[in-house]
Amino acid sequence: MTELTGKTIVLGICGGIAAYKSAELVRLLGKAGAAVHVVMTENGARFVTPTTFQALSGNPVWTTPWDDRRANSMSHIELTRMADALLIAPASANMLAKLANGIADDLLSTLALARDCPLLVAPAMNRQMWNNPATQRNVRQLEADGIALIGPDSGSQACGEVGEGRMSEPDTIREALTVFLQPKPLAGKTVVMTAGPTYEPIDPVRGITNISSGKMGYALARALAMAGARVQLISGPVSLPTPWGVERTDVRTAQEMHLAVMQHVGQADIFIGVAAVADYRAVQVSTEKIKKSADTLSIELVRNPDILAEVAALPAAPLCVGFAAESQNLDEYAERKLKTKNLRMVVGNLVQNAMGGDNTQVVLYDAQGRHPVEPGSKQTVAGRIVAHLTNML
Ligand code: C5P
Repeated sequence: MTELTGKTIVLGICGGIAAYKSAELVRLLGKAGAAVHVVMTENGARFVTPTTFQALSGNPVWTTPWDDRRANSMSHIELTRMADALLIAPASANMLAKLANGIADDLLSTLALARDCPLLVAPAMNRQMWNNPATQRNVRQLEADGIALIGPDSGSQACGEVGEGRMSEPDTIREALTVFLQPKPLAGKTVVMTAGPTYEPIDPVRGITNISSGKMGYALARALAMAGARVQLISGPVSLPTPWGVERTDVRTAQEMHLAVMQHVGQADIFIGVAAVADYRAVQVSTEKIKKSADTLSIELVRNPDILAEVAALPAAPLCVGFAAESQNLDEYAERKLKTKNLRMVVGNLVQNAMGGDNTQVVLYDAQGRHPVEPGSKQTVAGRIVAHLTNML
């Protein structure tokens, strides 16, 4: 089972050099489990031939409403009746203008007008065309009509100019579509969460940190965003991309994390502390690199604030979830944490089962007791944690 298993996508391709990226997009959607049916405009088919898309999608490619492979020439209606979404990538300036005004003068624009499924568009055009007031007016109209926009990105363009208007990368479009198509049980909820390690400096080049890749927190942020939550992720230093739709604030130390959480948590319905916060920091941070001279060196440490416990103790505290990564006695420590920190749920794992890897094994603890979660990838397990959380709400 992959994330788009059972989904049918009609992919519209307009005339633009970004059409070459759509070949990769078809492959990515197929790999994620979707059935893809490609519709090309006449100009789209000048950039990449229908044969390429037929080979990649394994389905016939459609270019004209007058195609007698469909009985009664009804392809303009029937193609989207079986679809979970119509995705147009690349969407040219001309196509945006037609969509915004209900013009249906070829197969793709007619399909869009006759559709009964959601429409997502990934615009691609020269920066002047994108910034033209007419295009911007059309984009506002499309948004008002409930059409989802993906991108465009900024950067160098095929015409040699640099600016906004590049089509988003195929993987970004696949991700946006995947998020769009998932059920949204957490719509309207705001989640503030922490992830990754913190770094507590000792001098300009040294510090104390935790071994935390941030993978579990980022997988959870992605699963929450997919479930429709607004996610504000306060992240320690990690080398991971921000999941689609997640708002991220980068911090380095526990004190910075504490400050950022307190600034955001007022709007939160749920707070989740996934970060491996350093329990102590150096009392004195040396401004110069400490030289080795004596055989021993003592660094005085002071306790960092317990961010999760403080949030849970707020007068109007959100629903608080903590993580317990332990090397032994998981049940005892996790259950104690649930009570002492006043949490609604603790996600417990044995560090030897998860650290740094892509898979994990967790047990959920709440007022009802202990709930082992089927092991799997961190992303799959994150989905199961979100499902449990959704049921609690
Ligand atoms: O107290 P302990 O570190 O065992 O608890 C772990 C949980 O508490 C995690 O959810 C972690 O994000 C959170 N925590 C925190 N601030 C700290 C220490 C831990 O938010 N200073």
